[in-house]
Amino acid sequence: MTQTQSMDKIIALAKRRGFIYQASEIYGGINGFWDYGPLGTLFKKNVREAWWQDVVLNPCQGKLGPNGERVRILPLDTTLIQHPQVWVASGHAANFNDPMVDDRETKQRYRYDHLAVYVPSKGWEAIRAGVGGPPAAEDTGKPFFAYLPDSPSEAKQKKKAEKAWAEVQSVPLPQVPKELFPRILAPEAEKVGTLTEPRAFNMMFKTYVGATATEDDVAYLRPETAQGIFVQFKNVLDTTRVKIPFGIAQQGVAFRNEVTPRNFTFRSREFEQMEIEFFCHESEAGEWYAFWRDWRLSWWQSLGLAGENLQLREHDPDELAHYARGGAGTSDIEYRFPFTAPGFGELEGIAHRTNFDLMQHQKHAKVNLEYFDPDRGELLPNGSRKGEKYLPHVIEPSAGLTRGVLALLCEAYTVDESRPSPEFLRLHPRIAPIKAAVFPLVNKDGMPEIAEKLYNELQQRFWRYGPVEMDAKQSIGKRYARMDEAGCPFCFTVDGETAKDQAVTVRDRDTGRQERIAIDKVASYLAERLGD
Ligand code: GAP
Repeated sequence: MTQTQSMDKIIALAKRRGFIYQASEIYGGINGFWDYGPLGTLFKKNVREAWWQDVVLNPCQGKLGPNGERVRILPLDTTLIQHPQVWVASGHAANFNDPMVDDRETKQRYRYDHLAVYVPSKGWEAIRAGVGGPPAAEDTGKPFFAYLPDSPSEAKQKKKAEKAWAEVQSVPLPQVPKELFPRILAPEAEKVGTLTEPRAFNMMFKTYVGATATEDDVAYLRPETAQGIFVQFKNVLDTTRVKIPFGIAQQGVAFRNEVTPRNFTFRSREFEQMEIEFFCHESEAGEWYAFWRDWRLSWWQSLGLAGENLQLREHDPDELAHYARGGAGTSDIEYRFPFTAPGFGELEGIAHRTNFDLMQHQKHAKVNLEYFDPDRGELLPNGSRKGEKYLPHVIEPSAGLTRGVLALLCEAYTVDESRPSPEFLRLHPRIAPIKAAVFPLVNKDGMPEIAEKLYNELQQRFWRYGPVEMDAKQSIGKRYARMDEAGCPFCFTVDGETAKDQAVTVRDRDTGRQERIAIDKVASYLAERLGD
């Protein structure tokens, strides 16, 4: 199965089993917006909860920070609409632009920095034009070629063209002189010269606060949850007894008017983030940056992104965002999605944002945001310290919840043709939407009654982790298949022997292996596997 086919199958399963639907589907949908169905809502909530538990309730699962102390994290919940000056101070009003180029022929719009022109070593004049990926051998010799890195046809075309284009160099479009634009053939275009020059689009959603809706009432839906944290930094300091180093964590919806929403939920216009702003002294920023980078990677691994599809990538210095220049660095945790393969797409960024944001808000709001640290500064004769005032530096692990859900879904999707129903989701029990199912083998002979009793017992004990299901309809094979597609890790079946031996079979979703266990041990069996 190609990567494109596997993505189509994942999207089909997500729809069929009620994980993810297109928003407003009965009206033809709305581009870049997605709804989560019953299973998807449970699944997303489990990922969100896992983060909440491991970041806020039990920070870093008890792992000590580089200072040898417990990591301190406080929760926060700020509004979607902030004072418009917040986005001026943060730089979003001025910088949150992606320059785009339009193709007048195909009406496609591309990120300027996502396109490259392919140039053979012979020089510009000998370049061919092509569609979607490195050119097919028979297409060489045409004038110019525009290449879209995440095109689904890339891998296929790349192979074909490998030999003929061994010496081709790719030149990022931003480096191609504007006078050469008339000679570029855009991806999927038939004629050359149809790409427009780049234009900037601000990605913040505009709205109006109040009934008059004049230009004085303009406000924006937040494009990230982070700024709410910086804006409330002083209130959190003043109303709690927290001391630096500490972090503030927030989860919530963010909006970006993405010009090219694409790849299922990967780039949406409304999505959810899970962000930590960790405040520390500048001298300790390097070690906290390394700490968060490594722990965040291990956290995604603990949820099942454990293989080669996950990688950590350090940004090159010229790639750093404006707020991260001069800091200890930025790393992306990346996942190899079927639509990015063989490449990777960002899942979470860990950035040393220096003290850029607090400095900006201090300047724009004209409020002193400095922290007084009594444990720093000159040592006094009485053994105490003089103290030091400073604007803390920030390490920001910023994860996409909805993008994480997509990565976990892609990773879990498995096809095993040897099974009666080949498709299933290998979801980690912690995030699986349904934790267990109970089946009577047949819906008679006293089996439904025993199954109902077991179901009630499990549901009452485990509902905090997620629902347990009871299913008595259709053949046992169909019921297993339904649970496999929902990613349910454990199915317990009451059969004709149960009344005699007081035992049920438990079937493992991933191996299909069945084991017989005493009915009064089912709860402890499940508890152990759910980490209860
Ligand atoms: N506060 C920093 C910040 O927002 P970002 O890299 O722009 O950084 C953080 O976003 C994370 O949010 C990304 O790693 C990604 O997981 C998620 N994200 C960003 N834009 C998204 C979009 N359009 N759709 C879905 N998730 C998105």
